[in-house]
Amino acid sequence: MITTDNKYSAADLMKLEDKFGAHNYHPLPVVLEKGDGVYVWDVDGCRYYDFLSAYSAVNQGHCHSRIISALVEQAQKLTLTSRAFYNNTLGEYEKFVTGYFGFEKVLPMNTGAEAVETAIKICRKWGYEKKGLPENSAQIIVCEQNFHGRTTTIVSFSSDEGANKNFGPYPLGFIRIPYNDINALEEVLKHPNVAGFLVEPIQGEAGVFVPDEGYLAKAAELCKANNVLLIADEVQTGIARTGKLLACDHENVRPDILILGKAISGGVIPVSAVFCDNHIMEVITPGTHGSTFGGNPLANKVAIAALEVIADEKLAENAERLGEIFRAEIQKLIDETELLVLVRGKGLLNAIVVNDTEDSSTAWDLCVKLKENGLLAKPTHGNIIRFAPPLVMNEEQLMDCVAIIRKTVLAFKK
Ligand SMILES: Cc1ncc(COP(=O)(O)O)c(C=O)c1O
Repeated sequence: MITTDNKYSAADLMKLEDKFGAHNYHPLPVVLEKGDGVYVWDVDGCRYYDFLSAYSAVNQGHCHSRIISALVEQAQKLTLTSRAFYNNTLGEYEKFVTGYFGFEKVLPMNTGAEAVETAIKICRKWGYEKKGLPENSAQIIVCEQNFHGRTTTIVSFSSDEGANKNFGPYPLGFIRIPYNDINALEEVLKHPNVAGFLVEPIQGEAGVFVPDEGYLAKAAELCKANNVLLIADEVQTGIARTGKLLACDHENVRPDILILGKAISGGVIPVSAVFCDNHIMEVITPGTHGSTFGGNPLANKVAIAALEVIADEKLAENAERLGEIFRAEIQKLIDETELLVLVRGKGLLNAIVVNDTEDSSTAWDLCVKLKENGLLAKPTHGNIIRFAPPLVMNEEQLMDCVAIIRKTVLAFKK
């Protein structure tokens, strides 16, 4: 048997994680050691289609040569200076990335959750210093079934018990309303101390819930009318995944604050960013926010390369086209089987709902079978399986994946 370094088998490696690592994940039983484009290989040399893309971080495909070259080149020169000094890559990156997404300013961070925290801080400070809210009164509206990360503040406003139970006491200042309910938003906006509305344009983690057409546009209109900042968390939906550069672009919405992470670095190193215009970002002054690694030279060069790949390889267009084909093919399969209920999504962010109770193991068992047939996907919530391959996939590969899914579903026995 071939192993990583001829020392451990796959079973050994799983046992090591089990014994020495915290059990904060429940991975499928596959141990990966290599990735290239849409494929990953396990330690026994078996090849799989990656249909998760590290939760939409690896949109540009695994180990994209252009991004890796940028990483290696910069790694040999300078990796980290902290923001105590200027470095010769940050300004170039900031100019590039603000132009790319059409905002006046960017605040660079590392993980998605940190960027969400940053957006919350900016929004609250704007609420006091620009909107004139009384001290410590600012409210941010969030949605049921949201997923914005794992910090104590973020989990405090999650509606998922698994995410927040026993992590209290919870911070104040968040009002939760149903997702995709414009009337609920309109009602809660009457509250005088609302500073922002934090929303995912599509709820990825919750199971790829696509709101009704017009929801986001109407939400933007209501926020504007009430002098409330629309904060779009596009950590998962952003950067070509849904068939446009941003999911907000489907409704021509320009949020007041945009949060990006994951694919901004092509999944190579943690890079995240918060964007807004000067009149909002100017509430952030020296000493009010920061991060040792935010805006580091490696991140800057990697992110420029990753975003150039998105544009040059027309990955949004590819996601849009292949997404249509994928949903049509899966719909045909749904028409032939009792096992699946529906497919939904936009671009190459899709999910199927399995015909079973939410707490059943059917979706998990199906993912294990998909793995045995060469495709890696994972249930998101209970009976929902998210399908999100790298956006560098071509049509032939996609049809190969459809064939694997078809074969697995039709042969599946509960
Ligand atoms: C919409 C959204 N926001 C924030 C996050 C948190 O990102 P990270 O895991 O990098 O902290 C995620 C992660 O899945 C996400 O999907």
